[in-house]
Amino acid sequence: MNEVVVALGKLMRPEHAGQIAQLLNRRNQLKARFDAETIRRRAANFLVDLDGDQVLACIEINRIQWYQWEISHLAVTEKEEGKGHARQLIACAEERALRGNARIIQCTIRVGNERSEHLFQKCGYQMVSTFFYPHSGHNVGVWQKVVSRPITATPAESPEEKSPSPSLT
Ligand SMILES: CC(C)(COP(=O)(O)OP(=O)(O)OC[C@H]1O[C@@H](n2cnc3c(N)ncnc32)[C@H](O)[C@@H]1OP(=O)(O)O)[C@@H](O)C(=O)NCCC(=O)NCCS
Repeated sequence: MNEVVVALGKLMRPEHAGQIAQLLNRRNQLKARFDAETIRRRAANFLVDLDGDQVLACIEINRIQWYQWEISHLAVTEKEEGKGHARQLIACAEERALRGNARIIQCTIRVGNERSEHLFQKCGYQMVSTFFYPHSGHNVGVWQKVVSRPITATPAESPEEKSPSPSLT
């Protein structure tokens, strides 16, 4: 497996954008089709796994709220499936979200996309709710991962510990 995941950003060339658009149109049952120009406009949000100039896999990561980030448009080329590309891209997207102060990372998965559901579950995500998406006629699961747990009182801060210790005689 190629170990290089890159955020091409401004360096994204038309051929990269075209490959990403084709990959998403082919693999992700999307209602709207992507074109290279749309991908280029969102280049800063895409991470790609490259072999030379060949896009093997891609993922998009966006900030929704200051605390909430969303992973979307994850796709791996057919011949590269099962080699860990998706898992690696998710890890890189999470790193970026964490650098941006994320507390929760979420994604949506069509109910019944077992491969993707299994993958996100393995990466620590939980399905928290589902809704019906009339445009596709599918139920969609909302999956979340909390990446910053609430602070709980440490033993030293608990009320018992704060009261003066009984003096030893
Ligand atoms: C879903 C998808 C992104 C997975 O990519 P991938 O690179 O093959 O996944 P990885 O190799 O990183 O992850 C492997 C994990 O996928 C899951 N997986 C792989 N093959 C599977 C299969 N046949 N059935 C169920 N789960 C499977 C497992 O969780 C596996 O981990 P494990 O072997 O340790 O249990 C890829 O199949 C894809 O592009 N599918 C079409 C588009 C799509 O559905 N995108 C997701 C939209 S939410």
